[in-house]
Amino acid sequence: MAKIQKIAVFTSGGDSPGMNAAIRSVVRTCAYLEVDCVGIYHGYEGMIEGNFKAMDARSVNNIINKGGTILKSARSVEFRTAEGRKKAYKQLKAEGIDAFIVIGGDGSFTGAMIFNQEYNFPVIGIPGTIDNDIFGTTFTLGFDTALNTVVEAIDKIRDTASSHNRLFFVEVMGRDVGHIALNAGIGAGAEEILIPEENLGLDRLIESLRRSKESGKSSSIVIVAEGDKTGKNVFELKEYVEKHLPIYDVRVSVLGHMQRGGAPSCYDRVLASRMGVRAVEALLEGRTSLMVGIQDNKLILTPIDKAIKGHTKIDKELIRVSDIMTV
Ligand code: F6P
Repeated sequence: MAKIQKIAVFTSGGDSPGMNAAIRSVVRTCAYLEVDCVGIYHGYEGMIEGNFKAMDARSVNNIINKGGTILKSARSVEFRTAEGRKKAYKQLKAEGIDAFIVIGGDGSFTGAMIFNQEYNFPVIGIPGTIDNDIFGTTFTLGFDTALNTVVEAIDKIRDTASSHNRLFFVEVMGRDVGHIALNAGIGAGAEEILIPEENLGLDRLIESLRRSKESGKSSSIVIVAEGDKTGKNVFELKEYVEKHLPIYDVRVSVLGHMQRGGAPSCYDRVLASRMGVRAVEALLEGRTSLMVGIQDNKLILTPIDKAIKGHTKIDKELIRVSDIMTV
């Protein structure tokens, strides 16, 4: 493989806190190792359009603490076509870019993998999504921050729940997985946590809420992952519970995109800094089509196709802890 002298970095898919810290890390590692670095705006869209900007160590001042992504993000439809990828390849070559680092989720990695196969172009992925749904890493960038955001929001909702003796259904993000719901649910002391990986049915929910009332609890919080499989959204759950358990005064709160924003936690900043360094190093070692992940607090590299195809598992111990806490 030809020597890598210029590396591009970009963010793709849903933004997550810690993406800026990862961009900063990639740019500064390049500066440290005396490799040129280019930022690509708007993900694969910008790659197709040639929306590039040379970046040096000072281009990333004062961004470690910022949510979102200074390079912007997008979900590109054109890059899914062979024609779109050809345009992107031409733009990269015209700019003299030898390799790229993509910060995003599995859709972004799929694009990178196909591009690598078609053009033998070196690529490395850094997992950035609040959902924590990427195989090959215990933590994705933004997950820890999102958990803290959710817990803070639910703590506030709890004040109203307890003052008015109410039951709240709180919907949290997690398109296909329940990692945010389960972890934040335990952290915020939820009565029940509904996640896609464990559909225990509506009867059990009603039973558990009935027991909780009988045991003397005056208010309750139920966390629902947006991808949960009860077949009812939070508003329908409210109606269902009000019908079957009229003793409850029920309210709904959908936390939505506030979970994706805000300053990254210290954990996410450190993780992003570590992953950025490793991603650049991996490219300079001549490695490609890998994702940087973390396991047992050590950075590991997973083939990108495995990261895409693999599924994360829910921690059964957390389910047990949650069950015990709601006695
Ligand atoms: O993948 C992260 C995520 O925040 C999911 O939890 C959510 O379903 C989705 O993105 C929403 O994405 P958007 O509003 O950007 O289309």
